[in-house]
Amino acid sequence: MSEHNPKHVYIHTIGCQMNVYDSGQLMAILKAEGFCETRDIGEADLIIVNTCAIREKAVQKMASFIGRFSGLKQKKPGARIVVAGCVAQQQGRRLLERFPHVDVVVGTHAFRRLPLLLEEREARGESLVDISMTENIEKTDSEILLKHHQTDVSEFVTIMRGCDNFCTYCVVPYVRGPEISRSPADILSEIADLVESGMKEVTLLGQNVNSYGMKEGLCTFAELLERVHAIDGLERIRFVTSHPKDLSPELIEAFVSLEKLCPHIHLPVQSGSDRILKKMNRRYTVAAYLDKVYRLRQAVPEIALTTDIIAGFPGETEQDFNQTLELIQEVEYESLFAFEYSDRPDAPARRFKNKVDAVEKNRRLRKLFALQASITQKKQRAMVGRTLDVLVEGVSKMQKKQGRAVNNGSTELCGRTGGNRIVNFSFGTDCDLDIRALKGQIIRVRIEKAFSNSLWGVPVNMASPSRQIKGGYVHVA
Ligand code: 5AD
Ligand code: SF4
Repeated sequence: MSEHNPKHVYIHTIGCQMNVYDSGQLMAILKAEGFCETRDIGEADLIIVNTCAIREKAVQKMASFIGRFSGLKQKKPGARIVVAGCVAQQQGRRLLERFPHVDVVVGTHAFRRLPLLLEEREARGESLVDISMTENIEKTDSEILLKHHQTDVSEFVTIMRGCDNFCTYCVVPYVRGPEISRSPADILSEIADLVESGMKEVTLLGQNVNSYGMKEGLCTFAELLERVHAIDGLERIRFVTSHPKDLSPELIEAFVSLEKLCPHIHLPVQSGSDRILKKMNRRYTVAAYLDKVYRLRQAVPEIALTTDIIAGFPGETEQDFNQTLELIQEVEYESLFAFEYSDRPDAPARRFKNKVDAVEKNRRLRKLFALQASITQKKQRAMVGRTLDVLVEGVSKMQKKQGRAVNNGSTELCGRTGGNRIVNFSFGTDCDLDIRALKGQIIRVRIEKAFSNSLWGVPVNMASPSRQIKGGYVHVA
């Protein structure tokens, strides 16, 4: 690192888990080069925004974030600003025209080169752009990354990048490039290293994990899961995202045979109308989708299902929209993510006719949320009285905000169930258990209250003096 280079780096991440993972990698790469992380943006010499292009709103978020720093260099001449990720890939040099105070624009395949780009920026004395897609992004340099990464109880690991599906509304294939799977050996060694340093739960990431390895002739996704499952010390496995068209019988079977695989699947349906699904190029029908849901539930009756829906896709009529509402009623998802359709540069749907107007899109979106809220409420209430396995992640949000005031001085912790429900719980004041030792353990919690986004409960028998901690689970005599 040259003496002119900034020292403190702050990364602001917008978008999906893939971006969260990439930001973690970027931070580790920079730390390996001598930078140090700061969570105080005022202290930062290097400010990076890792961007998302999926919807217009995410791009607006980026613009307002970058806009905040237009006068920064007058106060702090050595400060540097970097735009990374999907919008960087999409807009390249245009970002420099719009935001002349940006120093480096680095695309989705080039972020490993950022340290070099920063040096080049100093040497040349001008802003630069690298959006080439030639870098072998499979390579992880696991050791370096791990050394500079603070491992959590639950971590994301990317197993593939890019997408070949070309749904007509989606920008991902254009900004992330074609689908490429990482080798199983590379993935397994990264997970094993993370487990070694304390990770208990891994979420495997890809735009379409069900087609993992197909193109390269590697193992199938179900086989990869089996190999991940065999890693000692790993307690839970999750994955996102599954394309319904590629959900195989082997994968459904994996939910039965692999006990570490959490009973939760995110299966984006997008619409409940065959006509709209066709226009979206989703390549499944509602009947085929429901058949997969049926098979999943037959295999694992308790499986938690979540989905993505787009409201107001071009040409979506009231009748199409009602079919989406019917599908939601029928499936009864645990929760859903819904978005107003947004035109994206490159994505073909922007040229489709019969656009739904903004007010109507918003009305449909609110209707989707209202319907789901009633389903979620019913499902959350059904958890009251049950005892669930919870992987302890740390102190609850409420506890962080309010300190000791929560629950008469006892500490409130939080974790997740296998079905991905958030559970907060606290111990009686007579409990002498070291709560820090509970982080990363799976404990049994009896659910007493249900809220729309979380459950609240009491650990079962935790106050007993005869408890012992064994193999990741807290067994209480
Ligand atoms: N407009 C609205 N929502 C979109 N999504 C992807 N592209 C668009 C778009 N142009 C949604 C889909 C996808 C999720 C990640 O974002 O529902 O599953
Ligand atoms: Fe986008 Fe469709 Fe690929 Fe998902 S599967 S990333 S929605 S193109």
